[in-house]
Amino acid sequence: MADGTFRTLAVVGAGNMGSGIAQKMASEGFAVILVDVDDEKVRRGVRGIEQTLADGVARKLFTAEQVTGILSRVRGTTRFEDLADADLVVEAVFEDLGVKREVFTRLEQVCRRDAILATNTSSFAVGDLAGGRRFPERVIGLHYFYHPAKNRLVEVVGGPQSSVAALARAWALQEQLGKTPIRSKDSCGFIVNRFFGPWLAEAVRILDERVADIPTIEAAAKQAFGIGMGPFELMNVTGIPIAVHTDDTLGAAFGPLHATPDRLRRQFESGRPWDLSGEPDPSRFEAVADRLAGIVFYIASALVDEGVGTIEDTDIGARVGLRWRAGPFELINRFGLPRAKALVEDVARRWTAPVPPLFLRQAASGKPFAFTLVRRQDADGIATLTIERPDALNALNEAVMAQLTAAFRAAASDPAVNGIVLAGSGKAFVAGADIRFFVKNIEAKNIPKIYEFTRAGQELLLEFQRCRKPVVARVHGLALGGGVEMALACHYIVATPKATFAFPETGIGIYPGLGGTQRTTARVGRGLAKWLVLSGETVTAEQALAIGLVDRVVPYEQLDATIRECVAKGPVLERTPHAVPESFRDIAGRYESADIESLRASEKRIGFKAPVALRIASDLIDRGEGKPIEQGIAMELSDLEEIFSTNDAYEGLSSLGKRRPVFTGT
Ligand SMILES: NC(=O)c1ccc[n+]([C@@H]2O[C@H](COP(=O)([O-])OP(=O)(O)OC[C@H]3O[C@@H](n4cnc5c(N)ncnc54)[C@H](O)[C@@H]3O)[C@@H](O)[C@H]2O)c1
Repeated sequence: MADGTFRTLAVVGAGNMGSGIAQKMASEGFAVILVDVDDEKVRRGVRGIEQTLADGVARKLFTAEQVTGILSRVRGTTRFEDLADADLVVEAVFEDLGVKREVFTRLEQVCRRDAILATNTSSFAVGDLAGGRRFPERVIGLHYFYHPAKNRLVEVVGGPQSSVAALARAWALQEQLGKTPIRSKDSCGFIVNRFFGPWLAEAVRILDERVADIPTIEAAAKQAFGIGMGPFELMNVTGIPIAVHTDDTLGAAFGPLHATPDRLRRQFESGRPWDLSGEPDPSRFEAVADRLAGIVFYIASALVDEGVGTIEDTDIGARVGLRWRAGPFELINRFGLPRAKALVEDVARRWTAPVPPLFLRQAASGKPFAFTLVRRQDADGIATLTIERPDALNALNEAVMAQLTAAFRAAASDPAVNGIVLAGSGKAFVAGADIRFFVKNIEAKNIPKIYEFTRAGQELLLEFQRCRKPVVARVHGLALGGGVEMALACHYIVATPKATFAFPETGIGIYPGLGGTQRTTARVGRGLAKWLVLSGETVTAEQALAIGLVDRVVPYEQLDATIRECVAKGPVLERTPHAVPESFRDIAGRYESADIESLRASEKRIGFKAPVALRIASDLIDRGEGKPIEQGIAMELSDLEEIFSTNDAYEGLSSLGKRRPVFTGT
């Protein structure tokens, strides 16, 4: 691993968590060694993986061949000696400090000096496991969520001695695994369990104090947090003992506000699940929602005050890990600061605890919480701007665009910056513009707002293109529509083999309006630009490289070095289209010469697209060829009102993700 590449990963403990973590690693192409105490436990873990994958085949998520490949990469063993070559080991054994410490001692004996050792503990501190080790800097926390092959969230936890390098490499691995990592301090419950445990406890207190009965609490919680299961059903499914254990641990660390209520302990001791039967009483919904929200607002503010996590990571944790529709801070904004403040003060009063200072400051400002959606990190004179809306696949909304514009301009004018990199967080680069923004404004008959958003977006992309410092798109994962357009405006596009590119616009009633009908031609020629924009075909990184849509495709671990090479070469100010490779000549020829009507007749995919969008897009590509970019994007803008006023645009945009749109050509 001297080059930083992860080749062999390992998981110790083949139980619920360990086998799922190993499954995910193998699914993403890594060789994984799975260790447990005896052959039967190892076999049970592997059987668990086989079962989950078989379900995946039944649901058409995997093919049988993929499953064979995944299983061939998992090697079960009872011998710790087999971990001699592992680059990173995740410990997922019983939640028992003695057992865990013993495992770490064995790992120290058998693993290479540079292997990263991670714990998946839910309740101990990383420091407890790192303490007294010879190389404590390589010990970190990787806290996954059940089911770890399906739930994308992982808390990356730095202990008091964890090195920055170990954390950065473990973070990069999570990106490679398609996970959504968030950063947490080494504090009891980390970010998510810190407020999730007390949220469950508060539901039990509401019941105990007869504020509402179980069916009412369930229904009110589902409505307020946008979730499929309320707290009692969740406890029944995941186990009341886990809830008690979480709250006992939090109570010991933070006191009674976080502790296990007697009523919850009694239920645990009875061994019975909660009785969910009965009809909800809607007149009590608000009282329930207020109590549940109050405790979450209080604890979320406290954990941010303590530096355990940021407001952004707290919200991502709730949305991705718990599948809440909104995170605590977004909920505070929705409740409104005055109402949220009253709820937090109520918690403070009931527990004779101080109101968290962060909350007081925000309430005093009278402004809602503002989220950083674009994070800037500088290294070696390169400023990397990462869009951080991983659960929305980094889709571009007004807030993201405003922050990206400010961050880009600041980096462009910073004398310490020699190059700028645009990146996405999680498994996507950028999945285009936020469709809800379009739908909302069409419904409000506010097309000028869409026009202004597009115009400002075009201007920003022009700044990328004209920048005197090299601008590089770092594409790992999905790039769709506006995401492809953003990348095309950069001087270089460096992608990993996992990257895919597509223009889905004509399939949802619109056309690419951020230069996609213009800059695509400049890279791949008119025939292939028409093929990409009109057919919406998804191209792989390899195909994108072959046709010249991207400049480099390199393994994930070479991304940053390749980006540095591009930066060293300087900006690309002139571009001639890449020669059409032999294997694409036929398709390029068909699309270049044919008109829309004959394409509709000959190409099956085109038949499903919106006719007006196809016509305008095709026309824009034809008219734009060879013209300066400023003229090309002005043409895109001049047709914008027409396209967003069509019935098909509304039909396409509002049906996305729900059903196949039916276009009428109007
Ligand atoms: N279950 C959850 O929802 C969840 C979520 C996040 C984190 N965690 C944490 O993950 C860890 C594992 O939890 P789980 O639910 O998978 O437990 P589990 O009981 O299902 O599995 C634990 C496995 O570890 C094995 N094991 C015990 N001692 C071992 C040793 N010395 N060497 C090798 N293997 C050993 C056991 O045989 C068992 O197969 C715990 O620390 C838990 O707190 C659990």
